[in-house]
Amino acid sequence: MIPELSNPSVCMKDPQRVQEILEAMVEADSKTLQVISDFDMTLTRFSYNGKRCPTCHNILDNSKVISEDCRKQLDELLKKYYPIEIDSSLSVEEKLPMMVEWWTKAHELLVKQKIKKDLLATAVHESEARLRDGYKLFFDHLHEHSVPLLIFSAGIGDILEEVIRQAKVFHSNVNVFSNYMDFDESGVLRAFKGELIHIYNKREGALLNTGHFQELRTRPNVLLMGDSLGDLAMADGVQDMKNILKIGFLNDKVEERKQSYLDAYDIVLVEDETLEVPNAVVLHLTGKK
Ligand code: TMP
Ligand code: MG
Repeated sequence: MIPELSNPSVCMKDPQRVQEILEAMVEADSKTLQVISDFDMTLTRFSYNGKRCPTCHNILDNSKVISEDCRKQLDELLKKYYPIEIDSSLSVEEKLPMMVEWWTKAHELLVKQKIKKDLLATAVHESEARLRDGYKLFFDHLHEHSVPLLIFSAGIGDILEEVIRQAKVFHSNVNVFSNYMDFDESGVLRAFKGELIHIYNKREGALLNTGHFQELRTRPNVLLMGDSLGDLAMADGVQDMKNILKIGFLNDKVEERKQSYLDAYDIVLVEDETLEVPNAVVLHLTGKK
């Protein structure tokens, strides 16, 4: 077993099964591996020094690119819909229309702000967004070993790209599926492109992008990382999947949600702000441990 799997933050319903998946994936060679990860609260921290860290949307909400009035309205949406997102007493079917409502209203508000493309880098630079500790090893190692990393996010693609660019880890093995901004010829936000990706339609997002997975047909072994139960569908576009190891970050409402996370994810990391365990798994799978 990987020593980090004994860390106090690690919970597993079936450690034997995890061991079997790891063995099958090591046997299969790292040339057959791909990593699919969520972004907000998975690759980025949930909290730092006791304070919540921003999502892609929150980076804009807290920046100078939007008006005070818009900030208040976005904050009200967050206060209304985030508790629904993490409410374990509601089913996905019950939450889904409310999540669509959240994303739709938030994007409508952002579009009204006529945000300028060239201000996004500063907004990210001045934000408190933080990739989890160990991010450099994670991104650099996957790049060095030519393992494709798909970042699949219901956040905002332009913002998340800027976060990883400024952290100097936007390497050539990284692909992003997300909500991208559509700017007019003078660089002002006029809409969001394509189909909306929200927290519970990542399956549809994956199936719309079958071309990407087609290119990765020789990589049927998947390491999946997420922080929401909606993230489990991110690998639904992978054809002929052989093995999948699912790592889930349980950041909030731990006691209420622990059982559902244990049932859904192979490895659950409870209030763990680091990438220590994913890094140990990645090093193991690429023959470094
Ligand atoms: P993801 O991590 O699954 O890609 O989802 C993006 C996160 O963004 C999700 O946890 C909810 C959050 N969010 C905001 O913080 N503000 C918003 O306005 C919206 C629409 C989403
Ligand atoms: Mg997330």
